Amino acid sequence: STSISMPPDVAFLTGQFSGGNVIKKVTRCGDLSGVFHDLTAWQAIPADTPVYEVEMLDSPQGEGELYVGMTHLHPGLVGDEFYMTRGHFHQRREQGEVYFGIRGSGLLLLQNEQGEARLEQVSPGSVHIIPGNTAHRLINTGTEILSALAVWPTVAGHDYRSLAGGFALRVTGHEGKIQAKDVQNG
Ligand code: PA5
Ligand code: NI
Repeated sequence: STSISMPPDVAFLTGQFSGGNVIKKVTRCGDLSGVFHDLTAWQAIPADTPVYEVEMLDSPQGEGELYVGMTHLHPGLVGDEFYMTRGHFHQRREQGEVYFGIRGSGLLLLQNEQGEARLEQVSPGSVHIIPGNTAHRLINTGTEILSALAVWPTVAGHDYRSLAGGFALRVTGHEGKIQAKDVQNG
């Protein structure tokens, strides 16, 4: 007879995984050198302050296989700039990804290889198709944790170097107002 197994599960209100083999990585303020434009404000924040956690389910590796990961991005500001993920192109540039908003509110910054940037609103239930050849970064513009679920090919890899000079847009908060500004020279 066919046996039915219990897969891992994700609590849609909190983005917490349970069951399955979960691997967790914490990114702290001190890890994000060069990411925020206000160097003095960045240095004033204790280096061990967590900015985001990524929880990933163990997946088979190889061409055609997929990872599932949850990013929990804390609310906060470095100077006037919202907390955000480092952001990356995929090493295998042509590989896309799908993000789903789970909780909190924020923005997904997308940028193509021509340096053209755009923003999508992330909120619980939002679905984001990240095409190939497109860098991506999450920005928490809210006051609670922003959690987003991601599914991407295990062969995609992360290229953090190509955008080490920064994205073409910066998102800041002034007295509760969210502003997106073009940055000269990327
Ligand atoms: O696969 C993804 O795009 C996400 O899981 C990110 O890796 C995650 O949000 C953390 O961002 P970054 O890898 O840019 O530090
Ligand atoms: Ni990615």
